[in-house]
Amino acid sequence: MVKPVITGRTKLVGILGHPITHTLSPAMHNAAFAALGIDFAYLPFDVRPEELKNAVAGIRALSIVGVNVTVPHKETVLDSLDVVTEAAGLIGAVNTIVNHDGRLTGYNTDAIGFLKALEDTGFDPRGKEAAVLGAGGAARAVGAALGMSRIRRITFFNRTLERAKELAQMVAGATGVQSTAVPWEEMGKSGMSIIRSADIVVQTTSIGMHPREAECPPVPADAFRKDQVVVDLVYNPAPTRFLKRAAAAGARTQDGVRMLLHQGAAAFELWTGRPAPITVMENALKTAQAASQVAEHP
Ligand code: ATR
Repeated sequence: MVKPVITGRTKLVGILGHPITHTLSPAMHNAAFAALGIDFAYLPFDVRPEELKNAVAGIRALSIVGVNVTVPHKETVLDSLDVVTEAAGLIGAVNTIVNHDGRLTGYNTDAIGFLKALEDTGFDPRGKEAAVLGAGGAARAVGAALGMSRIRRITFFNRTLERAKELAQMVAGATGVQSTAVPWEEMGKSGMSIIRSADIVVQTTSIGMHPREAECPPVPADAFRKDQVVVDLVYNPAPTRFLKRAAAAGARTQDGVRMLLHQGAAAFELWTGRPAPITVMENALKTAQAASQVAEHP
């Protein structure tokens, strides 16, 4: 692991979350700073929800260059910022803050990170059909990203149907893309044909994430098909049970590591104004991920 050398000029960046010990972002960013000789250090900050406002005030007070924001603060942090980009406002979530001389701007690099990760698979969303599992913060970023990429249709499956309806309305209203909401339990019934005909299926819920590795969304194996792109945003473990099921049916699969990488690269560029060293970040991420999986399953 790359340990930053701290000098009198070192600038601080980091990540606000709770809990935060599982984050792979410090490994990725500190490796990138070291590779480019940038005198920055990236630290994890465990911020309880009741301390979020104080933590954000601390960014100003300590002249911190910027931070990432993760669960459970991505939505609530909007109220404490001076400016929020249009995309972040639409998504309703901020995952990156930049401090411009005490003025804090909120960005959402999850949407661009998702699209960049998709580019790596060679998939072009234009004119295609998507099925999205979930309707939380991550699904909102994915929905906005796909909508802005001129996909033809998106179906959101969610346990809380109201949330999926609201998201479908947001995407349709903001991008004009045909969007519908379907109850979660229909996935293995009437919704199966929707999954089967989708060109891309994106799993955005926390199902299958450590320590719930045995869990899997109720998509029957024969709902997947060859030539379909199936993405799971979960990166611990990678691949998930869901992704293994899709791969066994011949689908082209991608785990959550690539979106994590690209959202991080976009944040890096916002803070430093320099192109992100993608390969360095990817290698650091893979090493940190392997180490964390060994720690959890010794
Ligand atoms: P994130 O920012 O990671 O998307 P979130 O906003 O809390 O987190 O959203 C979590 C998503 O996972 C939601 O779509 C949630 O469904 P609800 O809206 O019904 O809560 C979904 N989810 C989590 N656990 C689930 C489970 N056991 N079964 C079905 N859906 C689940």
